[in-house]
Amino acid sequence: MAARPCLRSGEAVARFTAVPSIISAAVLVSGLAGPSAAGAAEAVASSSAAAEVQQAYDRYAGSYDELDGGVAAEALGFPQLRQQLLAQARGRVLEVAVGTGLNLPYYSWDERSGAASGDEAAAAVAESRGVSSVEAVDLSPGMLDQARRRTQASPALSGRSISFRQADVTALPYGDDSFDSVVDTFSLCVFPDPGTALKEMARVVRPSGRVLLLEHTRSDNPLLAAYQDATAGPVAALGKGCVWNQDVEGLAAAAGLRVEAAERSAAGTVELLVATKR
Ligand SMILES: C[S@@+](CC[C@H](N)C(=O)[O-])C[C@H]1O[C@@H](n2cnc3c(N)ncnc32)[C@H](O)[C@@H]1O
Repeated sequence: MAARPCLRSGEAVARFTAVPSIISAAVLVSGLAGPSAAGAAEAVASSSAAAEVQQAYDRYAGSYDELDGGVAAEALGFPQLRQQLLAQARGRVLEVAVGTGLNLPYYSWDERSGAASGDEAAAAVAESRGVSSVEAVDLSPGMLDQARRRTQASPALSGRSISFRQADVTALPYGDDSFDSVVDTFSLCVFPDPGTALKEMARVVRPSGRVLLLEHTRSDNPLLAAYQDATAGPVAALGKGCVWNQDVEGLAAAAGLRVEAAERSAAGTVELLVATKR
């Protein structure tokens, strides 16, 4: 496994001091987001904890992009990290917890995928031609509404094979080995059961496929990790439920994934992972 720091050392030191305040502020501002006009929710949440998360994200939906697509996210380099991750998606893609669809503009599409099927589609994946379809799920109808609107408003996305479905990541409505790529960004920290979520991602990805993750994680810098541990409760309680000190690599390994590549940024508090199923 290659662990390559994303930042040069000077930048890392500068951001080390900025990261706690930027991320904490980001999470707290997000927690104050106003209500959205979410549609009626179906009962797909697998637990009462998941139902609470769903209701919270229905409230955040209308203002989510101001933060997670906004100044704090840009200061931490999140758009570039999304681009770096999504450039690796191939073939039939499942994006779990798609949120408002901030990743959708970054997929690299296989321009021939409209005609591809069966062996032709498999060959396209093998030749790394890009993405042929994206099936996007989320627990929150409010977030899904925002993602649909983003897609419809974008000429670059509106003609693409993108579908949306309300689903709980811990009970994905797909068969085993269904997808070439499974994507999750900045959501493991809010799932009530991240271990089961990762097991579901491992179940539905093909043996030759990849799980692509971009997540808040416990820093490999001991001082910052201690700060994260000390503030995890208040940050999660006052923000949008993000538990920002989880050991994401450890969770992935425990869920039956083999981490092929890992790259940290934001002073080690954000990690981009490429994993396959064991
Ligand atoms: C912090 S947002 C991240 C959204 C998006 N992935 C991004 O990068 O901007 C977390 C998302 O996870 C979704 N979510 C939370 N629990 C879920 C679950 N059990 N199943 C599916 N989605 C869930 C929320 O509705 C929300 O859209």
